[in-house]
Amino acid sequence: MSPIPLILGRTLVAGEWQSPRGDFASTSPANTDDTIGTFPKATAAEAADAIRAARDAFPAWRRTSRIHRAECFDRLAQLIKRDTDYLAILMARECGKNITECRAEVVEGLHMVQYVFGVGRQGHFGEVIASEIAEKDAFTRRKPWGVVAVITPWNFPFAVPLWMLGPSLLEGNTCVFKPSEETPAIGQHLMELFVEAGFPAGTVNLLHGDGEVGEAIVRNPGVNVVGFTGSYEVGRKIQEISARLPDRIVAAEMGGKNAVIVCGDARFDLAVSAGILSAFKTTGQRCVSAGRILVHESLMDRYARAFAETAARLKFGNPLDATNFAGPLINQAAIEKVTGYNALAAKDAKVLTAAQPINGKGHYLSPFVYLSAAKPDLRPLREEVFGPHAALIPFKTDEEAAAIYNDTEYGLSMAVITESYRRMRFFRDECEYGMGYVNLPCIGAEVHLPFGGVKKSGNGHPSAAGLIAAVTHNTAFTVNHATEIKMAQGLTADIAESGNSG
Ligand code: UN1
Repeated sequence: MSPIPLILGRTLVAGEWQSPRGDFASTSPANTDDTIGTFPKATAAEAADAIRAARDAFPAWRRTSRIHRAECFDRLAQLIKRDTDYLAILMARECGKNITECRAEVVEGLHMVQYVFGVGRQGHFGEVIASEIAEKDAFTRRKPWGVVAVITPWNFPFAVPLWMLGPSLLEGNTCVFKPSEETPAIGQHLMELFVEAGFPAGTVNLLHGDGEVGEAIVRNPGVNVVGFTGSYEVGRKIQEISARLPDRIVAAEMGGKNAVIVCGDARFDLAVSAGILSAFKTTGQRCVSAGRILVHESLMDRYARAFAETAARLKFGNPLDATNFAGPLINQAAIEKVTGYNALAAKDAKVLTAAQPINGKGHYLSPFVYLSAAKPDLRPLREEVFGPHAALIPFKTDEEAAAIYNDTEYGLSMAVITESYRRMRFFRDECEYGMGYVNLPCIGAEVHLPFGGVKKSGNGHPSAAGLIAAVTHNTAFTVNHATEIKMAQGLTADIAESGNSG
């Protein structure tokens, strides 16, 4: 039994917390005896009510000054700072990430809130544009779409929701938020902070539940934008449903099969650290985690030894112990999925570090490292594993490395380790990705940059700072300062002489 009181999950609709209902429980992946709380699975009627509440709140919120909207985020920032310890510990219990990572994630969420507060006073929502006619002033102005559904994963249960809620609300949209059913408690605490910060009733609404609730939200035509981070399969379904609606925007970020490319001229220790952090931080459960380390053949023997030895030494254990490197996988299904990929790789490749289950009541699995030539038909080299599973793949030339990197259906993040500016530029231009890094791991994006990918990883609407474009539509607005009409393109405005021609 947990010594901490159980959290009673509630739905938030139109500023009212509904009575708690315990349709499903949230338990810790680090200790399945640790129940965090019980939560209501939203009914179809509750989902419709939440979307209606967001619609009703939209007109007043969009008319509120952008600066006043932004100021709500200043209050939210103070509350996140007040609750940082609580949030980090709750997150470590609920999603199993190490407390050091959880703290960094709370800071990442705080940074988004601070960013939104700051840009509230900047004129990012429009430009003054030249007109052919001297007396005309032309502007572009970004207007909010209306209601944004925010559907987010368990691996970043605090920062990723804020990447979407922040830009959406700043620009005058209202939101319906559905956190992952694996991390409802952290999602609920985030909503409590929004309410405490004074966001008006209905501007943020909370629904708990699984994909069925997500589908009810996505099918509702009252939702203008769906901000989604999660698997490709779910993202594609959201896009298919949304394609039937006339003005639905989907901003989807859907996983990756990322890689670190270690060139022959790499700084060796930096290259090992970049590979290890990319492959195993968050137990390999980041969408930007690297399942592939491409290593120049001249370095492979030495690199493989150092990488496998380091991987075998990493401590996976209790997330609340800051001396551990990482925690468990999220659930038993994840253990089975990763173990299945490990077995597939072991059949065709040379295993350097075998995965060991780790004793305890959690879903623990230690790293699996293997050496393999780039084989197009070896599924673990092409599919997202989402666990501590890393392939070391040799290459001879930069061209070959770029071709191997690109030979997956994903295109999210890429790191190249080199001392050569020519190589850096080659990989920058030739690899398909949304986030590129040089002499860094391929994880670790910051909130004021766009976060997204290409191919199966994303649909061209990046998240974080980049989401501002997706949650607004761009308008042209033109004002004439002359006392008569002058048309562009030489079109006559003289009705008496030209009639309706021209
Ligand atoms: C994710 O993996 O789902 O770039 C998000 C990073 C973090 C966010 C990752 N800032 O690693």
